[in-house]
Formats: sequence, C-alpha cells, structure tokens
Amino acid sequence: MAAVPIAVITGASSGIGAATARQLAAAGYRVVLTARRKDRIEALAAEINEAGHQATAYTLDVTDRHAVDEFATAFRTLAVLVNNAGGALGADPVATGDPADWRQMYETNVIGTLNVTQALLPALTESGDGTVVILSSTAGLATYEGGGGYVAAKHGEHVLAETLRLEIVGTPVRVIEVAPGMVKTEEFATTRFRGDTEKAAKVYAGVEAPLTADDVADTITWAVTRPSHVNIDLLVVRPRAQASNAKVHRTT
Ligand SMILES: NC(=O)c1ccc[n+]([C@@H]2O[C@H](COP(=O)([O-])OP(=O)(O)OC[C@H]3O[C@@H](n4cnc5c(N)ncnc54)[C@H](OP(=O)(O)O)[C@@H]3O)[C@@H](O)[C@H]2O)c1
Repeated sequence: MAAVPIAVITGASSGIGAATARQLAAAGYRVVLTARRKDRIEALAAEINEAGHQATAYTLDVTDRHAVDEFATAFRTLAVLVNNAGGALGADPVATGDPADWRQMYETNVIGTLNVTQALLPALTESGDGTVVILSSTAGLATYEGGGGYVAAKHGEHVLAETLRLEIVGTPVRVIEVAPGMVKTEEFATTRFRGDTEKAAKVYAGVEAPLTADDVADTITWAVTRPSHVNIDLLVVRPRAQASNAKVHRTT
C-alpha cells in the first residue's frame, strides 16, 4: 500500500492556512499543522481527524531557526510544504512607519519562509516529487500607499520564490507562488491594525464579495494537485471587485 503523502502547512491556526489544511486533508494528504498557537492547531487537527482525514499539530514559530530545524528532523520525506505564515503590521506611510514593524514583517514573511523551506528542502527532494508553495500576495507584485513595509516583505517572498525556482530546476521539487488580492479572513486586518476592529472592517467596507480563506485554499489545492510535470509558477487571484491593489469597487 502506498504511503499517504504528507503536507506541512505553516500558519495553520487561522484564515488561509486553516482552510488549506482542511482542503489538503480532504484531498488525501496527511496534514501537519504548524503555528504558534497550540490550542488552535490542536483543535483543528482534532476536527480534521474526526472528519475521517489525517492531521497532527506541531507548535512552531517560523522565525525560530533552531525550532524549525528540530521540527524538520521528523521528516525523512515530504510531499508538500505550504509557506503561509505571515501577515502585515501597520499601514503607515514610509515617512512615519515604524522600523520595528518593517523588521518584524520581513522576519516573519521572508526569513520565516526561508527557514522552513531550507530546513525541509532535503525531505521534499527525497520524496522524488516535492512541491513548495509560497503564499505571497498581490502586494508582492505592486505597491500601494501605506503598504510600504508589507509590500517590501511580500516582494522579498516573491523574489525568494523566483530565485529558488531557478536554482532547483532539474531537481524533483517544484515551486508554486500563490498571490492573492483582498481576502477577508478572521484575523489578517485586525492583526494589521493591532486589534482595532473598526479600522479592520474599513478594509472590506462596501466590497460585495471579497475572497474568502476557502477561495485561496481551493486555489492552492488545485495548484498542488496538478500532474507532477506541471508547474504553476505564479497564480494571482483577486475578488471580482478588485482590479488592482488600490482599485476596488465599493458599493458604499
Ligand atoms: N488576508 C489577505 O488579504 C491576504 C492577501 C494576500 C496574502 N495574504 C497572506 O496570506 C497568509 C495568511 O494570511 P491570513 O489572511 O490567513 O491571515 P491570518 O488569519 O492573520 O493568519 C496568519 C497566520 O500566520 C501565523 N503566523 C504569524 N506569525 C507567525 C510566526 N512567527 N510563526 C508561525 N506562524 C505565524 C498565525 O498563527 P499564530 O499567530 O498562531 O502563530 C496565523 O495562523 C499571510 O502570509 C498573508 O500575508 C493575505
């Protein structure tokens, strides 16, 4: 009997990561959920197992290289890594943005993805058919006012994906970048505005149907389950109401 392929998902405690864990589990992967909040990933793993699929939880901060390396020792072989952990902090202009926020966004989005990808690349290669997904953003492709620090970090992730693809071509690992536009998830905007739910709500105000976490998880699952010889290099997905980062149709 063939072994069940394993998929590691970072940032699986909420939003896109949690939805991706559910969908990849339903698609036949044994999912390994990682994030800093143990209670949330354990509850999600239990939910997935109760649904008849396979999931385990592992508490992990992607910026802690030592912990990431220790986590990676559990994998001799790995089919899929979804680098989803990340997010934005603040929406200040360049003139007044807090360097500490910029540093933290770079650390989580870029160095976090670098840490986990480096640590798991040997196991992905060993599988003979590995897939690395990097969840960047349309902020990784174009800028917008007030986005500076996040845009810089997501551009960094985009460059990481592009460079890695060049460097490992010919090895049995493909690199998929998924770049979503506006996604209404439970925590993204609230984290960005440090718990200010009023400011967070304004991000989506009057937008009839922003993308959901499930929409992005569906996109990731589709890309990951393409035949082995197919590589979805970069997939941009936006809601219909959004034509660019700053051009959004609002009804109010
Ligand atoms: N929402 C959007 O509009 C949108 C659009 C494009 C791209 N994205 C990207 O999509 C990804 C997921 O976003 P989301 O909307 O689902 O946001 P979210 O609900 O805030 O989820 C962020 C996830 O990242 C985890 N995380 C943050 N820092 C971490 C760290 N140091 N170590 C490990 N895990 C960490 C969080 O878990 P813990 O706090 O439990 O660690 C959480 O599970 C992010 O990379 C984001 O930049 C979002």
